[in-house]
Amino acid sequence: MARILIAYYSRRGENYVNGNIRNLEYGNTEVMVEKLKVLLPEADVFRIETTYEYSASYMTCIEEAKLELRKQARPEVKNAPANIDGYDTVILGYPNWWGTMPMVCYTFLESYDFNGKRIIPFCTNEGSGMGSSVRFIRKLCPGAVVTDGTSIHGAEVQTADSEAREIANEAKQQ
Ligand SMILES: Cc1cc2nc3c(=O)[nH]c(=O)nc-3n(C[C@H](O)[C@H](O)[C@H](O)COP(=O)(O)O)c2cc1C
Repeated sequence: MARILIAYYSRRGENYVNGNIRNLEYGNTEVMVEKLKVLLPEADVFRIETTYEYSASYMTCIEEAKLELRKQARPEVKNAPANIDGYDTVILGYPNWWGTMPMVCYTFLESYDFNGKRIIPFCTNEGSGMGSSVRFIRKLCPGAVVTDGTSIHGAEVQTADSEAREIANEAKQQ
């Protein structure tokens, strides 16, 4: 059985849902991770967080994120694990932000040696799918095997059980 780490970024607060702005008590990616935890009870879980909070306002947050993308910022990861040597499979979950991952996921990927590991990405989004995130993960982690990833429509995350099973089954293979 593969030693699995589920690492994810998710933001609570206002978000864009089927064309409207809604306040999410739990982030969509976070909801997906709760499903994965049930399917993969042996996996460890690390919530990727920045040392500062993005605005809970959707309109402000998209501007903050746009600026970070433009600057190619590398926000610090709060309480980052010293290493991830003990895992051979990393499930990486994140929302699509401006067509790619939040910049803190870039920081996370650049912080460790992923050589020989498997990265299984999944991305919740409002229509842009994985965007260019998988391309960037492959670029940042050239020694890793990176699967094509699973895209989940954020507005339908509560019922995304088949996608959760797909990710969990992929993680268990090896
Ligand atoms: C800053 C920001 C940028 C976003 N950019 C996109 C985008 O480019 N394409 C898209 O489909 N959804 C976009 N979204 C919507 C999120 O990807 C979607 O709501 C996701 O499920 C949120 O996950 P979370 O609740 O785990 O953070 C964006 C949301 C935010 C807050």
